Amino acid sequence: MQGKRILSGMRPTGKLHIGHLSVLQNWARLQEDNTCFYFIADWHMLTTGFDETAGLKENIYHMLLDWLGAGLDPEKSTLFLQSQVKEHAELHLLFSMITPLSWLERCPTYKDQLQQFGEQGKDISTYGFLGYPLLQAADILIYKADAVPVGEDQLPHLELCREVARRFNHLYGRRVFPEPQALLAKVPLLPGIDGRKMSKSYHNDIAISASPQEVEEKVRLMITDPARIHKDDPGHPEVCVVHTYHGIYNLPEVEEIRGSCRAGKVGCVPCKKLLAARINAALEPVRERRRKYEGRPGLLRDILESGSVKARETAARTMAEVREAMGV
Ligand code: TRP
Ligand code: SF4
Repeated sequence: MQGKRILSGMRPTGKLHIGHLSVLQNWARLQEDNTCFYFIADWHMLTTGFDETAGLKENIYHMLLDWLGAGLDPEKSTLFLQSQVKEHAELHLLFSMITPLSWLERCPTYKDQLQQFGEQGKDISTYGFLGYPLLQAADILIYKADAVPVGEDQLPHLELCREVARRFNHLYGRRVFPEPQALLAKVPLLPGIDGRKMSKSYHNDIAISASPQEVEEKVRLMITDPARIHKDDPGHPEVCVVHTYHGIYNLPEVEEIRGSCRAGKVGCVPCKKLLAARINAALEPVRERRRKYEGRPGLLRDILESGSVKARETAARTMAEVREAMGV
């Protein structure tokens, strides 16, 4: 509980997939010797999902369960819900006064997403969506975070965050905000079971909360070498999703499997059975930790509420400084 001040967040997309597990395990490692704030970005979800809020509470619940299963510990980290710390909204508003529109309009994620959603027939050219990275800057700066563990796609947002911090400090003549750095962790890229990018919307994912039987079924459906028809046909593991997964979940044996596959000495069925067993072994400690929280929505609500109270103490302190600096 000292080290750096770390902050990160995720939009509540519901059940996470095993590709997210290494991200969460990295967050969990960081909580051992840093002061960590991890939050569920429900307001950010509304920037694109304002018209589909029916499942929001359910999604928050499922995501928090996955976080706890992955090892995030409410005793070590401050786990909270963005919408329960209204100070984020106040800082976002005040930042909106000093942020040139062009900074937001030129953000690469803005135009990309606008177009992507447009192709799906959804117009997100709203005030709120344009301000997404600015709200994110408020999320980060209100805790004066030094470091923000994020994926590479978030680097433009971190850059904007630093620019806003600099501008604020310059305008009001004191160093209220630090300039937070991105913490890029090496996370292995897991393909979906069909070889495309893993995503719930493609139905090619394996959920962190999958049962042992569900894992076996998903692995059974994984795409293998299409040229292999008979068990003793020589295989091409480099084009096989199962082989990619062995490289992550079964590192000690992957080389041997590659050799046996090329020589036509192992069939896809036992190869998949072995992989499913290895994935299940990796998920077992996650299942074990989840058990404590499953079916207890009251307990989860308490965790977020006490986390939000704690977060608010820090956020309120920063806001007092901000108002003072701005003369508000
Ligand atoms: N934009 C982030 C994402 O899509 C989520 C997020 C919102 C976030 N606010 C944040 C991440 C603050 C880090 C810090 O993944
Ligand atoms: Fe893939 Fe294993 Fe079949 Fe080879 S034996 S093609 S690695 S599933």
